[in-house]
Amino acid sequence: MTYWRDKVAVVTGASQGFGRTLAEQLVERGCHVVMAARDETKLQAAAQQIDPSGTKSTIVPTDVTSDDSVINLFKHIQDKHGKLDALFNIAGASARGLLCETSIDDFLISFDLNVLSSIRCVQAAVEMLKASQGHVVNMGSLASKSASKYIGPYATSKFALAGMNHQLRLELAESGVHVLLVCPGPIARGDSGQRYETQTTGLPEAARSPGAGVKVKAIDPKDLARRVLTGCEKHQTEIVIPGKARLLFSIAQLSGAWGDWLLKRFTSS
Ligand SMILES: NC(=O)c1ccc[n+]([C@@H]2O[C@H](COP(=O)([O-])OP(=O)(O)OC[C@H]3O[C@@H](n4cnc5c(N)ncnc54)[C@H](OP(=O)(O)O)[C@@H]3O)[C@@H](O)[C@H]2O)c1
Repeated sequence: MTYWRDKVAVVTGASQGFGRTLAEQLVERGCHVVMAARDETKLQAAAQQIDPSGTKSTIVPTDVTSDDSVINLFKHIQDKHGKLDALFNIAGASARGLLCETSIDDFLISFDLNVLSSIRCVQAAVEMLKASQGHVVNMGSLASKSASKYIGPYATSKFALAGMNHQLRLELAESGVHVLLVCPGPIARGDSGQRYETQTTGLPEAARSPGAGVKVKAIDPKDLARRVLTGCEKHQTEIVIPGKARLLFSIAQLSGAWGDWLLKRFTSS
């Protein structure tokens, strides 16, 4: 009997990338996964691949930037399952660009998807999660802890997500709901290096590369998913990968100038 067997989890951003890998590992552990993303065709294809029998997954086309769509998602979970054990807020997107040259409209897009969407989902799910003493997992990034050049809207919004996560952890501490922030470096994927072509015109090559030039090995998404699920079982508060990045974050807290010097050594920007 695994920890996840017969639990109900919702994964946003489940049609591709890390969300899909996480959904797959939950299904493998006997969890029923509600897979949410906007594109129904992609969601269906992902569900068919990770759960061919269709018994351990449900798809609910959802736009996490829409209040009505999020309310519909959690109403579906309440009506169909009557419970929720884990909310994985994975939908999010990196955005390359210099802060001084990024429009406020583009900042609003990043904040809506990377921060407000998680708040929306938490607000809609919190009563079910209190009832199950379940988990909230917020998908941050190394950019939740340290900015780096050329990721102005991304670092700004992922830092805000870390603040939201801390606030939520304190608020829910008495309720038994576990809250986890995941802060990985670049995750290995087939299209690394090609995703940000349109956002990096006029910026140096480093802006296009995974992690915008951060010199760390790409993380295997399956390893990361295992770490996240174990982190839930152990009620960890934070996962940072690679772990050595914590040293940089600690030094940067003590002295911004030392932190910036170290950051320069660990990035090619
Ligand atoms: N990739 C990395 O190297 C890396 C590193 C650190 C952290 N992260 C974080 O990990 C998470 C996943 O990243 P990824 O690169 O694996 O993602 P990805 O491959 O770009 O996939 C994003 C997923 O989110 C969904 N999505 C996007 N906008 C949405 C919306 N408004 N409503 C609902 N779903 C939406 C997409 O489906 P639809 O477009 O159909 O909606 C898709 O399923 C993000 O939060 C990212 O910031 C990624």
